[in-house]
Amino acid sequence: MFEKDTLLGKHILITGGGSGLGLAMAQQFYTLGAKVAICGRTEAKLQAATAQIGEGSLYYVCDVRDPAAVTAMFDYLTEQWGHINGLVNNAAGNFLAASEDLSANAFASVVDIVLKGTFHCTSEFGKRLIQSQGTASTAQEATTQGGNIVNIVTTYTETGSAFVLPSACAKAGVLAMTNSLAVEWSTYGIRVNAIAPGPFPTEGAWSRLMPDPSIEEAYKRGIPLGRYGQNEELANLAAFLMSPMAAYIQGGCITIDGGERLMAGQFNRFVQWMPRPMIKQAFGAMKSSRNPA
Ligand code: HXC
Ligand code: NAP
Repeated sequence: MFEKDTLLGKHILITGGGSGLGLAMAQQFYTLGAKVAICGRTEAKLQAATAQIGEGSLYYVCDVRDPAAVTAMFDYLTEQWGHINGLVNNAAGNFLAASEDLSANAFASVVDIVLKGTFHCTSEFGKRLIQSQGTASTAQEATTQGGNIVNIVTTYTETGSAFVLPSACAKAGVLAMTNSLAVEWSTYGIRVNAIAPGPFPTEGAWSRLMPDPSIEEAYKRGIPLGRYGQNEELANLAAFLMSPMAAYIQGGCITIDGGERLMAGQFNRFVQWMPRPMIKQAFGAMKSSRNPA
């Protein structure tokens, strides 16, 4: 579907790109011709990841909770590339906890990474792009200097979720940021969209959110497509949103979850409870008892 140069001319920073979904996106963007940088808190992980991504990919050790560190990272990347026109806010923290047991610091640690970290990076990104457009001599030039933000949220941004309260609150805030800026920054040719992934078995997520294999198995049965997502599938969606093919998608939140989000439909659970022949048999028996021959 993609040409080799689909993302040529894109200079993209992926926060939390040293592992999991962030790394998969970085690899796909690089393959499609983009210049790619990743950041995170763990240098060894970032070093190994850039080796995997390919020659010329950059890393910067940065805790996105620290606005001064984020500014320094953008200074460094601007120095390297001239400008940055793509940002994926992917860095996140999460864990399972009963909400009544959360300390103020536990709540803050997740909200600071997810919501404030996304703001810090988005703000640096936007300010710099908008300022550089001030020097454009034509409106056309300003538009071609536009940018692209993809925020990684979750499917529970709208519904909330038990046992991940800080993440649910923070990701809902990121979705509000996505929608707000999609309107406000359209003027500058900046597209802002979100991806809401369902379950993808990354080490980071699974080690914190899947207590044991039996729960993993039970969880899978609740996904209409009957399997977990593959990192490349999400990376393909992100590449599409970053590319000119998605030029008219603004303020979207695209769900990629094998249909899991829709399982609230009251009778959907039949597909989990019994195989299709048994469902049909049960429905047939009910019909016969209501309409005896
Ligand atoms: C209760 C916890 C806790 C837990 C930490 N805390 N883990 N409380 N249950 N499991 C509390 C600590 O006691 C402390 O509060 C406060 O949180 C900060 O803890 P630190 O360990 O000092 O924080 P820090 O080193 O900054 O680490 C942040 C983190 C950690 C969020 C806690 O998990 C992390 O680094 N995560 C990054 C990667 C990650 O989470 N990836 C998964 C993303 S998956 P006190 O009061 O004791 O000081 C995802 C998927 C969603 O988002 C959807 C899936 C389907
Ligand atoms: P992951 O591998 O743990 O990714 C999170 C990354 O963020 C890590 O590389 C981590 O590196 C980095 N990070 C954490 N705190 C940071 C900070 N303060 N500053 C900079 N970087 C930080 O987990 P993942 O599953 O790939 O998650 C990626 C994204 O997808 C997240 O936004 C997550 O909420 C979202 N998501 C995942 C799933 C899923 O099922 N996997 C589902 C829904 C949404 P360091 O710890 O080294 O800093």
